[in-house]
Amino acid sequence: MALPSLGQDPWSLLGVFFFQLLLLMSLRPATGTGGQGPMPRVKYHAGDGHRALSFFQQKGLRDFDTLLLSADGDTLYVGAREAILALNIQNPGIPRLRNMIPWPASEKKKSECALKKKSNETQCFNFIRVLVSFNATHLYSCGTFAFSPACAFIELRDSSLMPILNDKVMDGKGQSPFDPEHRHTAVLVDGMLYSGTMNNFLGSEPILMRTLGSQPVLKTDIFLRWLHPDASFVAAIPSTQVVYFFFEETASELDFFEELYTSRVARVCKNDVGGEKLLQKKWTTFLKAQLLCAQPGQLPFNVVRHAVLLPSVSRIYAVFTSQWQVGETRSSAVCAFSLTDIERVFKGKFKELNKETSRWTTYRGPEANPRPGSCSTGPSSDKALTFMKDHFLMDEHVVGRPLLVKSGVEYTQIAVEPARGLDGSRHVVMYLGTSTGSLHKAVVPENSSAYLVEEIQLSPEPEPVRNLQLAPTQGAVFAGFSGGVWRVPRANCSVYKSCVECVLAKDPHCAWDPESKTCSLLSGSSSTLNSWKQDMERGNPELACADRPLARSIRRQSPPQLIKEVLAVPNSILELPCPQLSALASYHWSHGHGHGRAAVPEASSAVYNGSLLLLPQAGVGGLYQCVATENNYSYPVVSYWVDSQEQPLALDPELAGVPRERVQVPLTRVGGGASLAAQRSYWPHFLIVTVLLAIVLLGTLTLLLASPLGALRARGKVQGCGTLPPREKAPLSREQRLQPSKDYRTSASDVDADNNHLGPEVA
Ligand SMILES: *[C@@H]1O[C@H](CO)[C@@H](O)[C@H](O)[C@H]1NC(C)=O
Ligand SMILES: *[C@@H]1O[C@H](CO)[C@@H](O)[C@H](O)[C@H]1NC(C)=O
Ligand SMILES: *[C@@H]1O[C@H](CO)[C@@H](O)[C@H](O)[C@H]1NC(C)=O
Ligand SMILES: *[C@@H]1O[C@H](CO)[C@@H](O)[C@H](O)[C@H]1NC(C)=O
Ligand SMILES: *[C@@H]1O[C@H](CO)[C@@H](O)[C@H](O)[C@H]1NC(C)=O
Ligand SMILES: *[C@@H]1O[C@H](CO)[C@@H](O)[C@H](O)[C@H]1NC(C)=O
Repeated sequence: MALPSLGQDPWSLLGVFFFQLLLLMSLRPATGTGGQGPMPRVKYHAGDGHRALSFFQQKGLRDFDTLLLSADGDTLYVGAREAILALNIQNPGIPRLRNMIPWPASEKKKSECALKKKSNETQCFNFIRVLVSFNATHLYSCGTFAFSPACAFIELRDSSLMPILNDKVMDGKGQSPFDPEHRHTAVLVDGMLYSGTMNNFLGSEPILMRTLGSQPVLKTDIFLRWLHPDASFVAAIPSTQVVYFFFEETASELDFFEELYTSRVARVCKNDVGGEKLLQKKWTTFLKAQLLCAQPGQLPFNVVRHAVLLPSVSRIYAVFTSQWQVGETRSSAVCAFSLTDIERVFKGKFKELNKETSRWTTYRGPEANPRPGSCSTGPSSDKALTFMKDHFLMDEHVVGRPLLVKSGVEYTQIAVEPARGLDGSRHVVMYLGTSTGSLHKAVVPENSSAYLVEEIQLSPEPEPVRNLQLAPTQGAVFAGFSGGVWRVPRANCSVYKSCVECVLAKDPHCAWDPESKTCSLLSGSSSTLNSWKQDMERGNPELACADRPLARSIRRQSPPQLIKEVLAVPNSILELPCPQLSALASYHWSHGHGHGRAAVPEASSAVYNGSLLLLPQAGVGGLYQCVATENNYSYPVVSYWVDSQEQPLALDPELAGVPRERVQVPLTRVGGGASLAAQRSYWPHFLIVTVLLAIVLLGTLTLLLASPLGALRARGKVQGCGTLPPREKAPLSREQRLQPSKDYRTSASDVDADNNHLGPEVA
């Protein structure tokens, strides 16, 4: 498409308008990128080849909700809908199916379920909820069994599952929920299963229960109302003497005009045997306390979603969301609770309900000995049990340390592991699953808050991560989804191409190996790694990556490793891309080298989406570098040498030793006929719109200025030219089929990712 003739010097006229418009666009502030809290340094979209992941799926199977790692770490047992699978995960790559056993709900239960108005398409199935290693030869599993919970032992032979015989299926009430939507938790300790779930069809009767093994079966007494009817359990964590349960419920002790949720930790003693006369077959050591995860001066994160123990530091890491959301985005927090703090709170004062005022107050009465609810051996006296019935809520809160607070994301699952830096520094790595199917890898340094190394979008469609299971010996995390299981290796260090990037990433699993010149995965044997480079504390490449310690004071910026040569073509706009790996860096372009280094000339260039657009003019040749600045350190990401056909330039002698490579970059022909079509289809559209817009605006301006009546209005228009009022430009861009964005609150990153959004942005 030929451009309309514009008179004597169309090129310079167009050029000026074009670049001014581009400049206006690039001045747009980059707001709204991912909300508050740390940004993931690197983001991978689903299916990104830089973070190649493997996905296990099986035809006809869905809801891979429950994951269990075998003791030797080579097999992953998976509870799906109406089936249990054994996957061999010994080798990297896609987990291989060792075997699979069906465990459907019986036809009788399914039809009863359908009669009770539950869906035979989505609900009346056996969703596996509990899957634990019972002993060396047996697993124990429970499922919803079409709203009629059932459990069974599963025999193992060579890590393969033996079929479940129908006559071996037992009642699973109190161990698995009825409704697949209901939360639940279970843990096997000393051959006994401690479970927290809903105990009835309606889902109004939460229960903490102990089954299996030699000790008596114990339950929470429903009439004592130790649990609010909406209690929702998310984790069960055993400690030396007790088992902790993490859950969320409506807080009856807090007076509030709206229903207020609160997060709790409850505990029961492992040696509890129930009462003799009072509280027979009931817990006699149940106590609960409020968990607090908040930043000073902000609304607390009051809904606990998941919790795990890191034994090496005796801390529990828990993810929380908030009952309240600001705008449309939820926010999440990760808090760490020390076991010592939790124990201290359970040894402290009780709360009690004042029956007259219906208020909860601190109990200030006499202390009995042995203390009611303590794990002292033997059954408690009737007096102590009577006291226990009303004193089960602790006065103090367990206060967590917020490690990570992030808005715009809803964490649903957490897995943690300790990691050692090259220098022996201790870190905690947290893998956080989100409600939209991505995984955040966060690193918590010893005494400070967390940062996000990467975000990986696992599922192509947004859907919650159902379960996370670390497999330390395989160096991977497994994530269960509705459609299958993802295997995510801890890191792909080779995405960091240089020592600088490797060090800036501050991933405890990656370090620079100067011998092979690769960023490599750190493994156990550390004696050979003396020469490897990492700086977990400061992430400072200046120190870690200097070849010789002397060199660094002289050199302010490292020379490029490779120079890409491009040829300037007359009447064409050159587009020099700059790969932006790190979201934490700021990027700018520089022109020239050494003492002659300067900012790029504004009149003949513009930066759009990180790429440098160059207008071929006299003196345009030379070195162009995209420079990243991160953590107070600048380094060239990519370097181009632009050769001009008319006046070929000699390469700067300082750069003579650097390897060079001729490359093709996207070109856009501006003048000329249709045969000289641009390599990128959207550029001509964009250019034409821009140029037409410029012409229209110029025309309007001229008309207005020429008209005597328009003298007053003209002032406003001239000013308006700078800000480009939306009403004028939107129709123009639509005519040119540059789709308006679906959402005007689109963030800058959305625009970057999808060129279609360019239209309204011009507007
Ligand atoms: C790791 O990254 C490199 C470089 O981007 C890529 O070539 C490789 O395929 C990636 N490997 C995995 C397993 O993701
Ligand atoms: C569910 O029940 C309806 C009618 O009761 C029946 O038509 C349909 O085939 C059933 N679906 C399944 C998956 O059994
Ligand atoms: C494991 O438990 C099952 C079920 O109670 C039992 O049949 C089996 O003998 C036990 N195996 C061992 C090795 O204790
Ligand atoms: C972290 O804090 C503890 C206690 O304040 C201190 O003993 C320790 O040396 C600190 N560690 C680091 C790496 O700063
Ligand atoms: C960044 O580096 C400069 C000098 O290189 C120094 O003066 C400044 O304090 C540093 N800033 C930070 C935040 O480290
Ligand atoms: C922005 O740049 C990135 C990489 O440099 C590229 O993948 C993306 O397609 C570009 N977006 C637009 C709108 O040009």
